[in-house]
Amino acid sequence: AKGRAFRRRAPEPPGEVGPEQALTALHTFDVAVIGAGAAGLMCAALAGQGGLRVVLIEHAAKLAEKIRISGGGRCNFTNLAVGPANFLSDNPNFCRSALARYTPQDFLELVQRHGIAWHEKHRGQLFCDGSSEQIIAMLLAECDAGGVVRIQPCQVKALRDTGPGETDGFHLDTDRGAFAAKRIVIATGGLSIPKIGASDFGYAIARQFGHAIVPTRPALVPLTFAPEDWARYSGLAGLSLEVAVETGEGKARGAFIEDMLFTHRGLSGPAILQISSYWREGQALGIDLAPGLDVAQALLQAKATSQRQLGNELASIVPARLAQAWLHADAAITATPMSQQRDRDLRRIGESLKDWRLTPSGSEGYRKAEVTAGGVDTRELSSQTLESRRRQGLYFIGEVVDVTGWLGGYNFQWAWASAAACALAMVAGAA
Ligand code: FDA
Repeated sequence: AKGRAFRRRAPEPPGEVGPEQALTALHTFDVAVIGAGAAGLMCAALAGQGGLRVVLIEHAAKLAEKIRISGGGRCNFTNLAVGPANFLSDNPNFCRSALARYTPQDFLELVQRHGIAWHEKHRGQLFCDGSSEQIIAMLLAECDAGGVVRIQPCQVKALRDTGPGETDGFHLDTDRGAFAAKRIVIATGGLSIPKIGASDFGYAIARQFGHAIVPTRPALVPLTFAPEDWARYSGLAGLSLEVAVETGEGKARGAFIEDMLFTHRGLSGPAILQISSYWREGQALGIDLAPGLDVAQALLQAKATSQRQLGNELASIVPARLAQAWLHADAAITATPMSQQRDRDLRRIGESLKDWRLTPSGSEGYRKAEVTAGGVDTRELSSQTLESRRRQGLYFIGEVVDVTGWLGGYNFQWAWASAAACALAMVAGAA
């Protein structure tokens, strides 16, 4: 009966199979990709174009929602300078091979082939001129070119290992019918933004096959502070300035110079999103509020010539609202002219702005995090193919893997590159 069930059928028509169409019989494919986000769409397209019969299964009503909302609706689809140093992982060199074989230039060529206009915004970050919908349309067109069958929405109830032998492969039970495939690609992403489809499915499948999971945590996320610690700064909400921020030590140290935004509950902006990926609970941040300037020295020099009060002088170095909040404990000297200030007060105030030490109480969590750090432990995956070392034919790609990029197009580049490494390996293996 098993053999009959796995008999090869005529290929399914490519494109989407909508919710109204029930799939009753067992459908066999070479590859089943689960999760139609950035990595899943790319992998399905390349595997299909390589001659494999691919089904792409998505549980949400809308696919690729994270591409749609990314980069403020313009999708920061890659970064011109990508290397292992731009990623966090317990196994920092794991991403090297895939990133080297599918480069930002490769993705850019695809974007250009589809006539999508783009621009470089900041530090190598590439965005669409128009809309992130163009990237989704491009990936869907690539899937159609590969004859990929898309089933959506579709809930996978169980993934069963049908074991070695004639039917060597996997069996998927779903609310849209049963699927058999020789290879399964898990591309279900991380836990951030649950309201648009994030799930822990990928981690559950990894555990089912005996994989270890590096503990997950929200990353690229605003940080929050205890209300009593933040009362002094909450009035600064909306203020943005360039800072240098650092946390951690040794290999776990992160340091960035970027803009930081004060919020009602804490800190955000690119500098904080970047450092949040390195921050661990209980750890302090060190913030230089005037990078590139020796503030103590500047105040001491101003003392000799300035007619202004300290508050006004400081407001010419950092934003006025920040200067005001900073001097609140020094109210007595704030309105005193510079010429009458004591050197040691100026030095103390200057140095405090260069090394603001503060310990977040937490983060805004997965609700606001752009990505999930941690994930499927890479030590049990092949860095060349993303295949499980525990079960041949099972692959993990994209954000579900313990590879987390910086802000700036790195996470999408990892999604494209890991998808390409996996797809090309499956195509080569099928030959
Ligand atoms: P992704 O999350 O894209 O896709 C996973 C898919 O699997 C989803 O469609 C999901 O619905 C589906 N799925 C989940 N569970 C399932 C299940 N049980 N069964 C079937 N399907 C399931 N990165 C970047 O490089 N540049 C940027 O500009 C941005 N901007 C950005 C903004 C915001 C607001 C967020 C939240 C994130 C970003 N990112 C980003 C990060 C980037 O979106 C993210 O790293 C990639 O989309 C990850 O690609 P994946 O394909 O791994 O997961």
